[in-house]
Amino acid sequence: MGELPPLDLRAPTRLLVLTGAGVSVESGLPAFRGAGGLWDGHRVEDVASPEGFARAPDLVWSFYAARRRAAAAVEPNAAHRALAACETRMRDRFLLVTQNIDGLHMRAGSGRVLELHGSLWRTRCSGCDRPPFADSSEPTATPRCDRCGGALRPDVVWFGEAVDAEADRRTRRFVKDAAQAGERLVFLAVGTSGSVWPASGLVRYAADLGAETWLANLDEADNAGWFDHRVLGPATAVLPALLEV
Ligand code: APR
Repeated sequence: MGELPPLDLRAPTRLLVLTGAGVSVESGLPAFRGAGGLWDGHRVEDVASPEGFARAPDLVWSFYAARRRAAAAVEPNAAHRALAACETRMRDRFLLVTQNIDGLHMRAGSGRVLELHGSLWRTRCSGCDRPPFADSSEPTATPRCDRCGGALRPDVVWFGEAVDAEADRRTRRFVKDAAQAGERLVFLAVGTSGSVWPASGLVRYAADLGAETWLANLDEADNAGWFDHRVLGPATAVLPALLEV
């Protein structure tokens, strides 16, 4: 990887970071794609889609209960901590949007985090509009709503579902504000294969509004060609150097 020049993040430069499963791999949580990935043992359609949940809710809950158990058993790593330290330094010039549902960014101290794909640590009802609620339980069978009797489900975004609208809106607002203020914006994607829309298109959205774009990943991502700069290597080594924290 060689000596990495840090990003120039002095004011008024703003930094928008998009993370994926790769930032949690060195904590011990498997990513989705590639050898040993989460999708290896499962058909995505069966455990991460509304159709799969309707067909076999208990199977889906066994998958997410196992992910809660795994995520509760690990700690944030140096990549999560580097992002939290960068936020402390940059404050409202920094924003983190994550595809991850494991909660490790918040456990590392990040506060300015938008969870585009929901959270493993919340549950909601599939049958009524009761608000999602914090939940770290590991059900062995599908829990039922005490209001409507409907099946409760993890408050995560499944394939075929829209991403969290508020997270998406605030992400794009951050990019537009920098452009309208004529301020330099750096867009940094870390630990993501760039294979799932709309997160994978954020780099184009940011670049079209003038951002300088960086990819920090272990391997080449599907959308690597859309980035101005690419740094290959493990996030726990690359991020502290890039962010100079
Ligand atoms: N450091 C940096 N990058 C890493 C590391 C590491 N230690 N280990 C793996 N990676 C990279 C891999 O090279 C891969 O490109 O992280 C990326 C993980 O890609 P995916 O497994 O596809 O995860 P992600 O991009 O987050 O998936 C997006 O797809 O399955 C859905 O909803 C799920 O949010 C997820 C979305």
